[in-house]
Amino acid sequence: MDRDLARAVAHRWHPVAAPVSDDGLHRLLTRLVPPGAREVLDLGCGCGAWLLRLLAAAPGCTGVGVDTSAPALDAARAEARRRGLTGRVEFVHGDAAGHAGGPVDVVLCVGATHAFGGLAGTLAAVRRHLRPGGRLLLGDGFWEHGPTPAALAALGAAPGELPDLAGLLAAVGEAGFEPGYGHLSTTAEWDEYEWCWTGALTEWALGEAPDGERAAALDLARTHRTQWLAGHRGQLGFLTVVLHDPT
Ligand SMILES: C[S@@+](CC[C@H](N)C(=O)[O-])C[C@H]1O[C@@H](n2cnc3c(N)ncnc32)[C@H](O)[C@@H]1O
Repeated sequence: MDRDLARAVAHRWHPVAAPVSDDGLHRLLTRLVPPGAREVLDLGCGCGAWLLRLLAAAPGCTGVGVDTSAPALDAARAEARRRGLTGRVEFVHGDAAGHAGGPVDVVLCVGATHAFGGLAGTLAAVRRHLRPGGRLLLGDGFWEHGPTPAALAALGAAPGELPDLAGLLAAVGEAGFEPGYGHLSTTAEWDEYEWCWTGALTEWALGEAPDGERAAALDLARTHRTQWLAGHRGQLGFLTVVLHDPT
């Protein structure tokens, strides 16, 4: 089954593709957008859940979202139309690492640091897009505990691939950013996110999928559930943090 389509279906119930609740998202966005901000860039925007919520709350801003997934961008454009935001947002199909555009006041990169080869590459790329004094909303994973071999196998990760929380914040500091408000995803947020992911895909497989896609979609939902419950549950953390450029 096409992975981009599967991921778009899996995020129907939880359009934020990260373990962050609606309340957490609202608090982060409230503390992200500085007074007078006008331009926002979302690198790896997915279905546009963060960007569209930000634009709805900040009427003076316009936004660009970049992603490689055509189905996710279709969902983002449909949601922009539903919210009456089409005139203030553009969704671009492309590699975020190659995106060229003018400097912006706010950059978002949540759950998409792999697009830049990891955290250090992401922070360096963001610098090229951000105006001096701008802000970045960064969302990235870290190890809460362990990791156990089962968690590593579930994620297909190597032991040193993710830092612990202190290591993540140290890397942010080394790149010259100052952490402001942050949100550490709770186990309840992880559980809600993963149940929505697997549940939406299962419901689609059983109710809407073309005959040729049904078995593959069910298999993907089962595999994902096992990777979560027998793998990274309770070990993988997720930090979403407002970072200030102090220059
Ligand atoms: C975990 S999702 C996060 C989506 C969104 N930021 C959110 O939190 O709802 C990661 C996104 O990164 C996108 N992505 C992966 N590699 C990319 C690349 N090289 N350029 C742009 N987007 C990419 C995927 O298509 C996916 O939509």
